[in-house]
Amino acid sequence: MKIIEKEDYNELSKEAAKIIISQIKKKPNSVIGFATGNTVLGLYKELIKAHKKGLDFSKITSFNLDEYLNLPKSDKQSLNFFMKHNLFNHINIKKINMPDGTAKNPKNFCKDYENKIRLNKIDLQILGIGRNGHIGFNEPGSKFTSRTRIVNLSKQTIKENSKFFKNKKVPKKAISLGISTILKSKKIILLAAGKNKARAIKNLIKGKITEKVPATALRKHKNVTVIIDKEANSILRGI
Ligand code: GLP
Repeated sequence: MKIIEKEDYNELSKEAAKIIISQIKKKPNSVIGFATGNTVLGLYKELIKAHKKGLDFSKITSFNLDEYLNLPKSDKQSLNFFMKHNLFNHINIKKINMPDGTAKNPKNFCKDYENKIRLNKIDLQILGIGRNGHIGFNEPGSKFTSRTRIVNLSKQTIKENSKFFKNKKVPKKAISLGISTILKSKKIILLAAGKNKARAIKNLIKGKITEKVPATALRKHKNVTVIIDKEANSILRGI
């Protein structure tokens, strides 16, 4: 696992963008796995800037990691909305794949989504990390062999997400790529910024590999780059 520590969030976002831009230049028809959350917002701004300077996304295929169950795509809190608003509406990407939280038969949807990913191997998967070490919506206890499926969100995640949902009920279930699905990606980058991620980062890099901390599965993968800022690295550095 390669660890890159950057001075701050801005530098971290630029570093992540550099990796994705070079992937797209090397292979214009790359398959890219996108994530949601506050951490990736800076990276997406950089990708939009790169597109304005000519970076072509027209041959890229995208797969997103997760979506809330039963939340329509048009809902402002849906991850479909997040991706459109923060990235897809601003670049010339055409082949977009996102989990559909309102699919008629969500179980079949998960199977089809998993199969589609198997046929279109992800070249570069972008990940954030939850404070409890989740990746995608693979909460603690998720099997390392898990595939795309319907998951129950942990109490902690529901509490953290409530800030986005204001007065509305926070969804308790989601569709998420499985851990084994994520590990099939050729290359993975994980981004983390801020003190509140320091414990998860310590566990990811130095902790025991265990299903209790889903992100530790990444240590089994040959090509993972973790990009963090000083604060996310503060426990490991003993600050
Ligand atoms: C959500 C997403 C994850 C993301 C995590 C961290 O739970 N499902 O994919 O990594 O939040 O979010 P943030 O970057 O806002 O801390």
